Amino acid sequence: MMKCDIITLFPGMVAPALHESILKRAQERRFLEIGVHRLRDYATDKHQTTDDVPYGGGPGMVLKPEPIFAVVEKIHREQGETRIIMPSPQGKRFDQKMASAFSKEERRLVFICGHYEGIDARVKEGMPVEEVSIGDYILTGGELAALVMIDAAARLIPGVLGEPASLEEESFASSLLEYPQYTRPVEFRGLRVPDILLSGNHKSIRTWRKQQALLNTLRKRPDLLADASLTEDEKEWVDRQCDTVKSHS
Ligand code: ADE
Repeated sequence: MMKCDIITLFPGMVAPALHESILKRAQERRFLEIGVHRLRDYATDKHQTTDDVPYGGGPGMVLKPEPIFAVVEKIHREQGETRIIMPSPQGKRFDQKMASAFSKEERRLVFICGHYEGIDARVKEGMPVEEVSIGDYILTGGELAALVMIDAAARLIPGVLGEPASLEEESFASSLLEYPQYTRPVEFRGLRVPDILLSGNHKSIRTWRKQQALLNTLRKRPDLLADASLTEDEKEWVDRQCDTVKSHS
C-alpha cells in the first residue's frame, strides 16, 4: 500500500480530487492511504498563526517552522518512517520514473505544501526534505503539485487500474507516445475508422499500432525515441520515415 500525507493550509483544495474516480476507489480498496493535515491545527499560539513577515524585510509572508515540524514529527511518531517531499519549482523534476519509485515507496510520503512567498528555510535545514518540481512554471502553492504526483504514482500500484496490460502498453513506459484509438461507430461525420482495425488480423493490427506510435512520437516528441527500445525492423522503419519526411521538404 502507498501511504501519503498532505500538509496544507487549505485542505479543501485537495479533498475533492481525493474523493473521485480512481483515487477514491484506490483508497476504498486499501491500495492507497492519504492523510490530510490542516497546518493551522498545529500552530502553537492562540491566534493559530502559521505565517509571519520575512526577516530582513520584503514582500509577502513566510510559513513559520514550528507548526510544520510539529505535524511532521507527529506523523513520524504515530505512523512510522517518512520520506518528506516539498513541492517546489526549485526541485528535481518529477517524471514517470519518480512516479514509479513513489508507487513502490515503503515509507509514508509526506508532502509539505507551501503557499505565500515561501517556507522558513530552517524546515529544509532541520529535516531531510526532497524538493520536487512538476514543471517550469509557478503554481500558487504546492497542493496541486502534490496531487499530480500522488495521482501519477497511485495509478502505477498493481491493481489500481483494472487491467495490468493497459500499463504495459502505454506511453512513456515504453518511451513511445500512444497509437490512436477508435470506438463505435465505424463512421462519424464522414470520418472512418481505419480498415486495418476492422480486419480481425491481430498481427497486422499490432504492427500498425506500433508504427502509428512511432510516427506519433517522431512527429511530436522525437527526443523520446533516443530512450525507446526498438527492434532492428522498427529502427529501419523509423529511418525510412525520416528519409520520406526529408525528401518532401
Ligand atoms: N509550487 C509552485 N510551483 C510549483 C511547481 N512547478 N512544482 C512543484 N511545486 C510548485
